[in-house]
Amino acid sequence: MDLVVVSNRVARAKANEPMTGGLAAALLPVVEKSGAIWVGSSGRVRDNVSKDSFAKIESLGAGALALLDLPAAHYGGYYEGFANSALWPALHSRTDLISVSQDNYQCYREVNAFMARALMRFNKPSAAFWIQDYHFLTLGAEMRELGIRNPLGFFLHTPWPARRVIAGIPHHRDLVESMLAYDLIGFQTEDDCENFATYLRAELGLEVNGGSVSSRFGTSRIAVFPIGIDVDGFAAHAQRAASHPDVSRLRKSLHGERLAIGVDRVDYSKGLVNRISAFDRLFEIQPSLKRSVSLLQIATPSRGGIEAYSNLQDELSKQVTEVNGRHGEVDWTPIRYLNKGFSQTVLAGFYRAAQVGVVTPLHDGMNLVAKEYVAAQNPIDPGVLVLSKFAGAANELDTALLVNPHDIDGMARTIATALSMPSTERRMRWEAMMAKLRAGTIHNWFAGFIEALETAHLAVGPSLLPPVVRPLRVAGGSSSVSDRRMRDPAHFAPRPVAN
Ligand code: G6P
Repeated sequence: MDLVVVSNRVARAKANEPMTGGLAAALLPVVEKSGAIWVGSSGRVRDNVSKDSFAKIESLGAGALALLDLPAAHYGGYYEGFANSALWPALHSRTDLISVSQDNYQCYREVNAFMARALMRFNKPSAAFWIQDYHFLTLGAEMRELGIRNPLGFFLHTPWPARRVIAGIPHHRDLVESMLAYDLIGFQTEDDCENFATYLRAELGLEVNGGSVSSRFGTSRIAVFPIGIDVDGFAAHAQRAASHPDVSRLRKSLHGERLAIGVDRVDYSKGLVNRISAFDRLFEIQPSLKRSVSLLQIATPSRGGIEAYSNLQDELSKQVTEVNGRHGEVDWTPIRYLNKGFSQTVLAGFYRAAQVGVVTPLHDGMNLVAKEYVAAQNPIDPGVLVLSKFAGAANELDTALLVNPHDIDGMARTIATALSMPSTERRMRWEAMMAKLRAGTIHNWFAGFIEALETAHLAVGPSLLPPVVRPLRVAGGSSSVSDRRMRDPAHFAPRPVAN
């Protein structure tokens, strides 16, 4: 099988450069080893795109990285518009933030159709396509329409919400019907998969039996594949990183003070405001902790062209200033707040230097920072993970200290508990988490999905049916995001982001 992996964002960075997002960073080590072709956005747009607008095809480990310039006229409506202002908030159950327009949906469909045409270049009988994430829900249907009968798999890195939440998107039926063109649809957790099955039954009137669903495309499988990390690779990074100048500087700056760490993209799903409030509360209820612990919060700017994100960035800056102003001393800053990205190696070193990892999203598909924090710890003296019960990772990392990120007092008390936890208990909890991480590495995830895709395709998958009738297309229109801004190359410069 010749595997073609498709995602909007791809990782080009190596371990010593800032990384580019949870999905891209996670896929890099496995895609490199697998010999797959990884197709994604080049980060640039073009006015006159043809299906052969591959900016670059370069080697990547045993395989290749194929970077595609996307159509300028549709990019804004696709990325900032439908993907990140309609789908992302809906998938994270933030119906209050959903902003949707017919134009943006049209742009989303156009970019999916464009990607499908571009992928024809890699279509051969032995090819299997594995599409990643919410940017490409309708790509499979476009590929089937072009006559591609090969195995098509899809994996959603975000949560799949309750059916009434996704139904808040006017195009929900069209989207989900299109998803059934995939032979295999993978989710992070049982809850996500169940929500999807409930949607299929209730909204589309389809029967879901033992993870199989039949539609006009044929039969698709739905299943759970919790994504993991390269545990040993990350642990090795953490050991090596001890001598990195950034890590040494951090350790030297502590003067015996203990450190809590948070690493996130600036995204409303990450619960950053609540986390800072919990530290504010912690210093109120336990003033003795002042000077003896601080939070290093790395908050990487993300999707800054979207109002909800730029508002959050402003809110956080203000909040951190207030908390530091209230509790800080001339020689002590309670919250060390950095708006930039770091390499995987440096992050691994930072995680190992921190006695507490705080990963408290309001809702998260998996959250690989939680897993990386655990893998980076010193086995003799591991730190404590404080983890939101609403992160997918909480299903596996159930010996972390689980918190409700809406309960500020509860989080403050739990952080205090983490700071005073005896070493025997820390080791016990950490070993249990490491056993889970080792049982579900990124390598197992990758191999497990591919095997399931082959099996699903051999069953009566969509690929065995005659070409489908073109799915209903929406009326034309141009992006609601300013074309001029979207054509500015600086707007697309790859930015280092966290999870
Ligand atoms: C999440 C999404 C990824 C995305 C990443 C960074 O992890 O699931 O698909 O790549 O965020 O977001 P960005 O918009 O910068 O690619």
